[in-house]
Amino acid sequence: MDLGLKGKLAVVTGGSKGIGLGIARAFAREGANVIVTARTSETVQAAARAITEEYGVTAVAVVSDVSTAEGCQAVIDAAAAEGGADIFVSNAGTGSNETVADAPDDKWDDFWALHVMAAVRLSRGLAEQMDAKGGGAMLMNASICAVQPLWYEPIYNTTKAALMMFGKCLSSEMIKRNIRVNTVNPGLVRTPDWENTARELRGDDWESYLQEVADEHADIKRFASVDELANFCVFVCSPMASYSVGSAYHVDGGMLKTV
Ligand SMILES: NC(=O)c1ccc[n+]([C@@H]2O[C@H](COP(=O)([O-])OP(=O)(O)OC[C@H]3O[C@@H](n4cnc5c(N)ncnc54)[C@H](OP(=O)(O)O)[C@@H]3O)[C@@H](O)[C@H]2O)c1
Repeated sequence: MDLGLKGKLAVVTGGSKGIGLGIARAFAREGANVIVTARTSETVQAAARAITEEYGVTAVAVVSDVSTAEGCQAVIDAAAAEGGADIFVSNAGTGSNETVADAPDDKWDDFWALHVMAAVRLSRGLAEQMDAKGGGAMLMNASICAVQPLWYEPIYNTTKAALMMFGKCLSSEMIKRNIRVNTVNPGLVRTPDWENTARELRGDDWESYLQEVADEHADIKRFASVDELANFCVFVCSPMASYSVGSAYHVDGGMLKTV
């Protein structure tokens, strides 16, 4: 299936590793040019170089903190310099670990800025570029935790639920401008970060830790590979998913325990 993405420009925040890198590579595989962003210069530059070498597309790295207004503006400016974004994936994010009783206000503010305000600022700025092209697509990467919390991370659960609601509100507004907005709620996705955590907890026996997590949470009894999620995300952002508007898709191997 030709997804119709050749020559499009896809902006993926947090595109230096894990899911974001997988999504950027999946876009590049379809012939799209990409902008990948992250705070760590070395990693994001290396990711962009590797994508260009492997797929022959233009891949631009932006070093910025998207939890700040300036960091978002740097991404918007970089996309403008490449001719304007057609696709935006709000992916940068991270887990938390706290109790409501103990977490200070600052922590709530930081996660709100990263998970919600980055999506607000970037979608506002990049939508203007999409207008000039007659439309586009946006995808919010929230989490299954937006609807089914893990109890050790109330700040993560709450801010991801807010991101999902933001995606719905944005969708109604943006479809009038021919920009489709959707949300993806992944379950367990096997990233290097998960593997490192498992190694720290279990040493050589780290694979058994991941298996236990998968057995406990996902009906399918395994993690998703990054590609399994990335392929889904790229399809939803492609013209082949042109009637998909304002939806939240769970890609979770049966982890969600409600209908
Ligand atoms: N892995 C899972 O099982 C899973 C499940 C559900 C949802 N998710 C969601 O999927 C997204 C990606 O997760 P992942 O597992 O791939 O995480 P990851 O491997 O830790 O990658 C996170 C990416 O975001 C970047 N990033 C973090 N904070 C940033 C900031 N303030 N500004 C700019 N970039 C920032 C990181 O680079 P720098 O650190 O260099 O900035 C990195 O590129 C997250 O939103 C996460 O909540 C993951």
